[in-house]
Amino acid sequence: PKQQTLAVIKPDAMEEHKEEILEAIRGRGFSVTQLKETELSREIAEEFYKEHKGKPFFSQLVDFMCRGPCAMLVLTKENAVEEWRTMMGPTDPEKAKETSPQSLRARFAADILHNSVHGSSNEQHAREKIYFIFGDIGTPTELNSCKETD
Ligand code: CMP
Repeated sequence: PKQQTLAVIKPDAMEEHKEEILEAIRGRGFSVTQLKETELSREIAEEFYKEHKGKPFFSQLVDFMCRGPCAMLVLTKENAVEEWRTMMGPTDPEKAKETSPQSLRARFAADILHNSVHGSSNEQHAREKIYFIFGDIGTPTELNSCKETD
């Protein structure tokens, strides 16, 4: 069955690599079922990353996420959560360069903080974050169109 995940193109990657990343996403067979470009307020960024509150890098992370526009995307595909995480590569681009040189973070990220893209870590988080960013967007038509048509 199809699944949805929330993907974010972070401010560092928006500056130079937005189109390339969107092409790569579509090239892997994801449907981009929602897309919103927005500059996050501190309040929204803090809420979005609430799971990381208290970590030493939290305030830097919030500063970074607010420094320019982000693209927030809902990606729909079978196994979307895991496939998008594979496509991003490990959080730390140094590790990504070793283990998955084709990944987006290996190709575009400068360091572990400025790591170009985000993706939900599981289906529950995906549902929560999609709701947080987009509200109740209903069930995308793709999820209903799997049956054979005549
Ligand atoms: P992301 O996958 O969006 O989830 C949390 C983010 O925090 C992560 O990508 C990085 O941008 C940042 N982050 C995670 N670990 C560290 C770290 N050790 N130092 C600095 N930033 C980090």
